[in-house]
Amino acid sequence: MTTKQNNQLPHLRLGVNVDHVATVRNARGGIHPDPVRAALLAADAGADGITAHLREDRRHISDEDIERLRTQLHVPLNLEMAATPEMLEIALRHRPHAVCLVPEKREERTTEGGLDVAGQHNQLAPFVRELSGAGIRVSMFIEAEPRQIDASKSVGAPVVELHTGRYCETPAGAGREKELERIKSGAAHAAKIGLECHAGHGLGYDTVGPVAAIPALAELNIGHFLVGEAIFTGLAQAITRMRALMDAARAAA
Ligand code: PXP
Repeated sequence: MTTKQNNQLPHLRLGVNVDHVATVRNARGGIHPDPVRAALLAADAGADGITAHLREDRRHISDEDIERLRTQLHVPLNLEMAATPEMLEIALRHRPHAVCLVPEKREERTTEGGLDVAGQHNQLAPFVRELSGAGIRVSMFIEAEPRQIDASKSVGAPVVELHTGRYCETPAGAGREKELERIKSGAAHAAKIGLECHAGHGLGYDTVGPVAAIPALAELNIGHFLVGEAIFTGLAQAITRMRALMDAARAAA
């Protein structure tokens, strides 16, 4: 083995979020396209895991989808959910590999901003405890701010997922570079205090490279862009290309 190979960054996992396959299905209220079929195809195309967000209003993924994903998938399932008693009961019943706790507002179009772990320590700690006690790996979806990262550690979560939305929405240039720096230093801080670090939200072909090159990251979760791109190239090809961009960025880092 060459020195270069020895120095390569560890594999960066790709979690494919299938929420918006369900969005299209629900537009007609039928069974097509099936997010579980998309998840199985995604796994065959190289996804290391599948992510699905069961929202309080069930606007995309349904309870039945979670049940079917749980029984049919042969890769880990990461269930995104709000920290509510209803969702806790569902998670404990299905025991997915992982739960990512996210903030949720009924009126939002997508998850806006990260969870305020620092401000909600006492409300969140029991959720982390119960989920962890059931053997579920818990992550907190947060902004890349040291106080939110420290608070995630103090509530007992082993993983944080850093919100990349603002980085992706900022036009290329100095502003986006600044957002990237924020994510880089957040990831380094998380690693330093012993947390596994993930990232996601809004990532596409144009934005994934610099994030994938961050050494401390172990996983990216990507959904909307891949499902949209699948319309043009097919889901397998969209995943293959995203995977290749991630691997190339890691190899060059
Ligand atoms: N990570 C988390 C915690 C999310 O809530 C979402 C969106 O559901 C994603 C990643 C994926 O974001 P996108 O669909 O924009 O790729």
